[in-house]
This record gives sequence, structure tokens and C-alpha cells, in this order.
Amino acid sequence: MAKAPADFPRFPLAHLPTPLVEMKRLRAALSERTGKIPPRLFIKRDDCTGLASGGNKTRKLEFLIGEALAQGADTVITTGALQSNHARQTAAAAAAAGLSCVLVLFDSVPYEGQAYRRSGNLLLDRILGAEIRIEAADADAGEVFKRLFGEIEARGGKPYFVPVGGSSATGSLGYAAAYLEIADGLDALGIADAVLVHASSSGGTQAGLLAGAQLRGRGPAIAGINVYRGDNEAMAQGIHALACKTTALLDAPAPAADAVALDGSFLGERYGVPTDAMREAVELVARTEGVLLDPVYTGKGMAGFLAQAMAGKYAKREAAVFLHTGGMPGLFAYEEEF
Ligand SMILES: Cc1ncc(COP(=O)(O)O)c(C=O)c1O
Repeated sequence: MAKAPADFPRFPLAHLPTPLVEMKRLRAALSERTGKIPPRLFIKRDDCTGLASGGNKTRKLEFLIGEALAQGADTVITTGALQSNHARQTAAAAAAAGLSCVLVLFDSVPYEGQAYRRSGNLLLDRILGAEIRIEAADADAGEVFKRLFGEIEARGGKPYFVPVGGSSATGSLGYAAAYLEIADGLDALGIADAVLVHASSSGGTQAGLLAGAQLRGRGPAIAGINVYRGDNEAMAQGIHALACKTTALLDAPAPAADAVALDGSFLGERYGVPTDAMREAVELVARTEGVLLDPVYTGKGMAGFLAQAMAGKYAKREAAVFLHTGGMPGLFAYEEEF
């Protein structure tokens, strides 16, 4: 028999379940633009997970910190770009668990905005007490981490490494559990046929959702919007491999090879570089629903959701749900865009 996410060590961090809210004014705005009525639109508010401004990493970190504590670690190490939401959430989770935190942030996004290097997530990382180490984009990551592990062990510490985005099989358990929560929420509304759309980057969210779908056997279709890699096919393969590792951990059947739906047309020039469609999506959702998205992930994800809804891609469904994965502090780092 398959295991459940609840069978794994878990450190409570998230306020769950997060709200599932209908976006009636956004739906009306899209009808007005297209002359057609889209299906009911919902937003799953994982930006309201409650840990230091929330986001999708909270659910992953419940399992990652659970594993770190089970292993007797005292220092959490993770990595990402300068404005990583994952790094900010990890710093907060480590603080809440009484662990030290080192963030290795690579200066890899070619964005020259004034606030990018001091505000947004970086400011919050400092307030949360993380040790921040900034590395050049082309630094040898293997060497950097080897040195850091050596340093921590030499002073008698025990490090626990969280991969970029928290996207290991253990982290993905958070989104296997989230899938069950979302599917139950749709059941409670009497919605049998929905699609769940979200921004996909390091892949743990999508992989976890796919694993959750394997556990449950029925529920919403899953559609990722690629905000990360130019090579969409390679990214989809990576997500499938991670989903298989997650189902293996759960003793559940692996997802089919073609189970990963990933749309690569909303990334723009590259990861972290703004697009016009992102700016329009952020402003439209803020002004119709009072919901704040972010410039790097959910803004581009929502641009995909809106374009797909307007193109009639969800026309045969009862509902389309956008998974709000957080990231709002990033708005302050990209203040010149708005
Ligand atoms: C706000 C936000 N949305 C979406 C994602 C993408 O999630 P994942 O890395 O699990 O694909 C991230 C992660 O980096 C994020 O910070």
C-alpha cells in the first residue's frame, strides 16, 4: 500500500488549508476582453501559508526541516538567485526551528534595477538572521559547497543541505499533500473537472502535485507554466524524474512519461527578466481581485493562465484554478517595473 505524506517527519510551519477563492471580477474582465465567458476561475492562496510572507516553499520546508531535525542537523544550507523566495522562506523556517541558516546566493540574473541588490527578499533574509554569502554567477558551485560544509563541520556543526527551490523528493511531499488538499477543496465545491495551473521553476511543486495525483487517482489536471528554463523539453523531463522519485518515496505508482504538461511560451528572454505580459498580469489581478503576484514566478504564471483562458484552452472544464505560489516581496526588488 502507498504511504501518505503524513507518514514522514514534518515540522509544522504552514497555516493550512490555504483559502480557495473564486475570482469573479477577473472572469468578468476576461469575458469583456474576449466576448466569451470563460469557466469559473479560482485562486488557491498558497501565498497565505503564513511563514514570513508565505509561498510554496513553506509546504516543502515542513518536510525538509522535519528531515533535518530527524538527522540531528543544526545548520541549514540552501541556495538560489539573489532574490530567491525559497532562500527567504528557508531562513524563516530555520529560525522557527531554532537552526542556523546559511544562504549561498548566486548573482546570476542580469537585472540592473536599483532595488534588486538590496531590497525585497534580500532585506528579509537579513532580518531573519541568515548568514548570506553572495557568489558570482560563474562560481564553481561544487567547490563553494564543499568549502562551506568543511567550515561548518570543522566548528563541530552538522549541516543539512536543501537543494535549490527545496526540490528534492522529500520537499515535493509538501505538494503531494497540497494536491490532496486542493482536490478535496474542489470536491467540496462540487467541481469535478478542473485544471490547476501554476508557475514551474525548480520543479518540486509540479513533481509533488503529480505525485499527489498518483496517490489520489482522480482530481484536477496539472498544467505548469515554465518561468525558468529555455529548454522546455529538458525541464519537463527533469520534473518527470523528480515526480518518479517522489512516488517511489511514497510507494505509489510512477506517473506516465507524458504526464508533465509544461508551457514554455511565457518565460520571455530568461529567468528573472520581466516581460510585458507579466506586468499586465500583475496589474490586472491586483486591480480586479486585490491580489498581489510577483514579477519572477506568479506574474509570468498568471500571464500564461490568462492567455490560455482567453484562448479557450479551459473552455471544456468546469473551473480553472491558479495556484498562487507566493513571491510578493520580489515586487519591491523590481519596483521600477510598475
Ligand atoms: C513564488 C514562487 N512561485 C513558484 C515557484 C516555482 O516552484 P518550483 O521551484 O517548485 O517549481 C517558486 C520557486 O522558486 C517561487 O518562489
